[in-house]
Formats: sequence, structure tokens, C-alpha cells
Amino acid sequence: MATNITWHPNLSHDERSKLRNQKGCTIWLTGLSASGKSTIACALEQSILNRGLNSYRLDGDNVRFGLNKDLGFSETDRNENIRRISEVAKLFNDSCCICLTSFISPYKSDRKLARELHEKDGLKFVEVYIDVPIEIAEQRDPKGLYKKAREGIIKEFTGISAPYEAPENPEIHVKNYNLSIEEAAEQILDYLLQHKYIS
Ligand code: ADX
Repeated sequence: MATNITWHPNLSHDERSKLRNQKGCTIWLTGLSASGKSTIACALEQSILNRGLNSYRLDGDNVRFGLNKDLGFSETDRNENIRRISEVAKLFNDSCCICLTSFISPYKSDRKLARELHEKDGLKFVEVYIDVPIEIAEQRDPKGLYKKAREGIIKEFTGISAPYEAPENPEIHVKNYNLSIEEAAEQILDYLLQHKYIS
């Protein structure tokens, strides 16, 4: 724990938003591996950028190549993964960027913490549940990870040998089966437009 540190005040988020002409927010996608989080987030990022707004995507696999390369998949490592990402998302959000995160984030308490860290500082947080039944995720298995998890080669695999706690009250619930990627991204974009996160 750091001691002898003093918070240096920043420009307020409202002042910055006015100057940048864009509000920040964090769009937090949660769901099983192979549910489509990253693909949907990519499509959404593209359509937000096409509108001339700033957006940036933080991705579960990608972040583990750098910032979180010291973390594995135990419960405590996942807790720390989500805590760090929440703090990074806050920075993007505060800089008036639309920050999209695609992490399994399987524990309700971690997602609650992510929300609290944002809301205590007046930053907007939108939880999106990318919902596919485990059978469909396992059938898709684009990285062959479910197969390895069933064979016991990968331990603590979400949905097989580690829990996934589905959100009960997400702002957006995307049932990502019988839907195209574009339709799923559009469902999120519509919500953001309707609720004036994006204008
Ligand atoms: S989280 O649980 O801590 O939120 P995160 O989204 O960062 O997970 O990383 C998940 C990605 O790591 C998966 O999409 C998959 O490609 C890979 N992965 C490797 N091992 C596991 C595992 N044991 N459980 C889940 N995903 C894993």
C-alpha cells in the first residue's frame, strides 16, 4: 500500500466533456468464452468511430499479453484482472472516450466493484450481458479451449470447471444466438443512443 501520496486535482469530467464535445462511458461486456464479446465489441467500436466519436476496446486476451501478463485464471487472479481493467477503463472514460471492455468477468462481486469504482467518481457504467448457452459456446469453440477443458488439459475453465455468475439486472441483455454480429452491436448502439450516452 502506497503512503505519503497526495491526489492532484484534474479537470472535472464535465469540463473536459464540454471541451472535447463528447461524454465518456464504459460499456462492460460480460459473458462466457466464445459468447461473442470481442467480436461484438469490435463491430460496436467500428460503428462508434464511424460516427466521428472516440472509442477504444480493452480485450480479455489482449490485456493478458501486457498489463496483466502476471495473472492466471484462479479466482484471486481474475479478481485482480477485473480490478485493474476497471481502473484502466475509468481512465479512458474520464478522458471522454467510449471505453468498451470484453472480459468474461465471471464473478458478480467483481462486476459490482467495477461499477462502484466508476459511479463513485460520477463516471457512467453500462453492463451488457452477452448471453449464449454453454452448449452453444462449447459447440463454437473457436480456440479449441472447451475441448481442452473437457480433457482436463486446461484447469479452472469458465463454464466447465470454474463458475460463471450471470448478471441479474444488466442494462442490456444480448441473446447472442440466432443474431448476426451487426444486429447484436446495433442492439447496444440503440440503447446508447436512446439513453443519450451517444448523440
Ligand atoms: S476473466 O475471467 O479474468 O475475466 P478474461 O476475459 O481476462 O477472463 O480472459 C478470458 C480468455 O482467456 C478466454 O476468452 C480464453 O481465450 C482465455 N482463457 C485461457 N484460460 C482460460 C480459463 N481457464 N478460463 C477462461 N478463459 C481462459
